[in-house]
Amino acid sequence: MTVVVNRAPLDAIVLAAGLGTRMRSQRIKVLHDLCGRPMLEYTLRLLAPLGVRRTVLVLGHQAETVAETLKQRQVEPPDLQIALQTEPRGTADAVRTALPHLPVDDSAQVLILYGDTPLLTLERLRDLLHHAEGRALSLLSTHLDDPSGYGRVLRNEVGAVLRIVEDRDCSAEERRCGEINGGMYAVNSGFLRRALSRVRASNAQREFYLTDLVAEAVAEGAQASALPVPEGEVLGVNDRVDLALAEKLMRRRINEGHMRRGVTLRDPESTYIDDGVEIGADTELGPGVVLRGHTRVGARCRIDAGCVLTDVTIADDSQLKPYTVATESTVAEKVQLGPFSHLRPGSDLGAGAHVGNFVELKKTRLGAGSKANHLTYLGDAELGDGVNVGCGTITCNYDGFSKHRTVVEDGVFIGSDTQLVAPVRVGRGAIIASGTTVTRDVPADALTLSRVPQIDKPGYAETLRTRLREKKGG
Ligand code: UD1
Ligand code: CA
Repeated sequence: MTVVVNRAPLDAIVLAAGLGTRMRSQRIKVLHDLCGRPMLEYTLRLLAPLGVRRTVLVLGHQAETVAETLKQRQVEPPDLQIALQTEPRGTADAVRTALPHLPVDDSAQVLILYGDTPLLTLERLRDLLHHAEGRALSLLSTHLDDPSGYGRVLRNEVGAVLRIVEDRDCSAEERRCGEINGGMYAVNSGFLRRALSRVRASNAQREFYLTDLVAEAVAEGAQASALPVPEGEVLGVNDRVDLALAEKLMRRRINEGHMRRGVTLRDPESTYIDDGVEIGADTELGPGVVLRGHTRVGARCRIDAGCVLTDVTIADDSQLKPYTVATESTVAEKVQLGPFSHLRPGSDLGAGAHVGNFVELKKTRLGAGSKANHLTYLGDAELGDGVNVGCGTITCNYDGFSKHRTVVEDGVFIGSDTQLVAPVRVGRGAIIASGTTVTRDVPADALTLSRVPQIDKPGYAETLRTRLREKKGG
């Protein structure tokens, strides 16, 4: 049975207008990548599951790039509106620019989040909203051994929250306070509208601080509160050192999720899995494996050491031996790949296919049960089922001007060191002798060979050696 809680309507404001100067980057901070997603995406993805009614995203620097990136990546928080803050004059000023986009509804709750705290979880926001009921303002805080850089949450002797003081404005004593403001707030909408207009830029940075709302609530005699949560969930990313730490924590969270769902990670510390990658149960990942983007791995697969897969789909029971690199490719079930195989975009392996060391595929379909085990390049090609590709086979797909296709029908045997000069088609069941250069279509079931006839001169080796020895001796 579901319990329906009659909660006030919830709107959200997400701040992402600052450039993020401390990143020392031309790219706006919130678009920096964390485990395969722009940082801002993590925050925005939390809103729909919370039942947010409207989302106001405050943008300034590189607003168009941010909006375009979100659209491309199909990040669609509920009823998204964009507010433009033309000059970053502080977090309170940013919220002011958002206000005209919010429904006027004094009973509503407004969730205010920053775009640079990607480790925040749904569970913690639910705690915050629960905690905020009946209060003018609630926020998430944490205790840090090194609180420098963050705003400090100051409480009175009985523990009631009094105000927040930013790092730069702290007295020596305030600076020692280890409870910091995480930057996630649930605020009553009526209070927000009233109190925002009273915030002044009377601080070290001459900015309008949203954190001043806490003192405003206390001044009104209303309740403000801070809910301490584990530090790993409220980490703010201001520079690339913070980014590396945030990514490490996120990576650990992602890896633990996979392990709990039945995936073996031989060395979680060295396994890099992007957020959103899917892996089936009883699959095993070796050390140094990197799974990126929209990669999906089936059940009972073995992805051995050092494999790097980007946007790859692998069906159940396949085995990737060490150092296989694959991008934008599809692998059916029970395939064997590697060691040192390279699948470039558009490779498609049928069930039970084998691809071995130093074999490169590009825009190529290799049918079910087909094998290309050694030192081979197959590009712009379609190979049927049960094809045997001998060592050193090359599709000559490029004539310097355009790319041409090679088609190899089912059951063909290609001897070692064969060149297939495209465009060319090899008919079903044909046998190509080793060392052949195929320049014309091959009929089905033909034996094809193109070789310079072999000449043997009996005893001539000794004659040749004697001649060479005399020549050298002068
Ligand atoms: C802020 C808090 C601090 C808290 C910390 C938590 C204030 C004044 N300080 O500090 O108490 O401990 O976060 O991580 O809020 N932004 C705008 N427009 C602006 C300024 C900022 O949209 O004019 C956005 C930024 O893009 C960023 C977020 O607001 O996403 C926070 O700004 P930032 O400058 O990183 O604040 P902190 O100094 O980290
Ligand atoms: Ca910050």
